[in-house]
Amino acid sequence: MRDTLLFLLGDEQVEIACCDPTLTVLDWLRLDQRMTGSKEGCAEGDCGACTVVVGRLDQGRLRYEAINACIRFLPTLDGCQLLTVEHLKGKDGALHPVQQAMVDCHGSQCGFCTPGFVMSLFSLWLNEDAPSVSRIEDALAGNLCRCTGYEPIIAAAQRMCRLGERERFSPDREVIAARLRDLADAQTLTLHGPGGTFNAPATVAALADLMTAHPTATLVAGATDVGLWVTKGMRRLDPVIYLGRIEALRLIEDRGDHLRIGAMATHADVRPALAALSPQLDELMRRFGGEQVRNAGTIGGNIANGSPIGDLPPALIALGSRLVLRLGDQSRIIPLEDFFIDYRKQDRREGEFVEAVVVPKTAPDALFHVSKISKRFDEDISAVCGAFLLRVGEDGRIAEARLAYGGMAATPKRAAAAEAALIGRAWDEAAVAAAIAALPGDFTPLSDMRASAGYRLTIAGNLLRRFLIETMQPGVETRVAGLLAEAAHG
Ligand SMILES: Cc1cc2nc3c(=O)[nH]c(=O)nc-3n(C[C@H](O)[C@H](O)[C@H](O)COP(=O)(O)OP(=O)(O)OC[C@H]3O[C@@H](n4cnc5c(N)ncnc54)[C@H](O)[C@@H]3O)c2cc1C
Ligand code: FES
Ligand code: FES
Repeated sequence: MRDTLLFLLGDEQVEIACCDPTLTVLDWLRLDQRMTGSKEGCAEGDCGACTVVVGRLDQGRLRYEAINACIRFLPTLDGCQLLTVEHLKGKDGALHPVQQAMVDCHGSQCGFCTPGFVMSLFSLWLNEDAPSVSRIEDALAGNLCRCTGYEPIIAAAQRMCRLGERERFSPDREVIAARLRDLADAQTLTLHGPGGTFNAPATVAALADLMTAHPTATLVAGATDVGLWVTKGMRRLDPVIYLGRIEALRLIEDRGDHLRIGAMATHADVRPALAALSPQLDELMRRFGGEQVRNAGTIGGNIANGSPIGDLPPALIALGSRLVLRLGDQSRIIPLEDFFIDYRKQDRREGEFVEAVVVPKTAPDALFHVSKISKRFDEDISAVCGAFLLRVGEDGRIAEARLAYGGMAATPKRAAAAEAALIGRAWDEAAVAAAIAALPGDFTPLSDMRASAGYRLTIAGNLLRRFLIETMQPGVETRVAGLLAEAAHG
């Protein structure tokens, strides 16, 4: 066991022996270190003013990612490098190309959002040489600005890549990677603070033991949900068990006819794996939160939190996914849909954790569609999410139908009556009409701030119509089809 938190703040090694388990990175920076460059706007991961860049080893290689410091707990940085806007200037005081480009393009007016934009751009600059405008827009979707209208910021993003001087301003990756390797170990980190205890095992076996010893502990993965329990719900969490040091839980394995995705795989990592199954899934993941949320949030957290409006469960249920749950040294595998019992009530036993998700690859003759309807296009959770998988037999009749929805019930749920209405029919307008007529038998949705019950039912049916149009009218211009054409033309 190790009882000291170790990480790099810029080039400096930090060692902390006493720390609350849920002290946020932003509070530590601003209140403790007096590094006030990173700002607090919303304290819930939505505005990006607090964006920082974290370097971490990923299977031995150094990887830099933008994350939201406001909802990230400081002890989760163990073994990482933290870079803030204060670290960008050169030793001679010269502005970093990202900062210079923001000045040149007038990318800042009131300036409150600016450090966050600069850090999101810095992450992009570190990782990509010549991002397209749509890639820049994606990278900035998690940053809000009320003054500049975004155009100058996008112009700055293009300009920063032309300013050269990459070597002068880039961290020395080999040196940093070596230093992070020196910090890494296979021991469980156990950190005490006045507010409770933070545990971070480094192996699945150590996690299983810890969960058996503390069956009611709060598990923390990317903290993009749990962080808000603290910053908005003012909850105290004790003890905390953090999953992020366990490399095995981050693995995404292609096992022939299925993918096995470890619970700690982030949305950023899951996206290419799912995109290979369907461009529909690529688009779903592109719109999942903003870049900072996708870099931190995990597939396991999205499932385990049991939200009725999580984006991945409907898609994974339609694909016929199964969940691997682990208690001690025993694993069990259940259909994902059976995990969701009632509102925020999941089939997870005390001490059990989600280990992985098994996602079957779609058969070549299967038709698949997923659509997310949200109030804001980017960085917003669904009002309704519909995911559909159909197989039409050689006789031209629908042989298998899996229709799953989020936002229509207390849990992500299959539409059994609508599925039954489709079986045995040709896949055509009459079939869609029959399925739509059956939907009220499946769902009695709620009205809330995201959508009214009537809107939800109408949309649920209209998404089936969209599915039909996309699958049965070759060359039709829908958003995903349009994106595919764009990608094909470079
Ligand atoms: C700004 C913002 C935008 C967002 N946008 C979206 C969106 O577009 N779509 C969407 O679906 N969600 C969205 N979310 C919600 C959130 O990002 C996702 O639900 C995310 O997948 C949660 O994963 P996490 O790793 O951060 O989980 P955490 O917050 O760490 O944990 C969530 C829950 O799961 C439990 N848990 C985590 N891992 C495990 C495990 N392996 N076994 C058992 N229990 C576990 C935790 O104890 C907790 O109860 C958004 C959140 C924010 C802040
Ligand atoms: S303060 Fe708004 S995302 Fe962190
Ligand atoms: S410059 Fe004012 S909020 Fe962006």
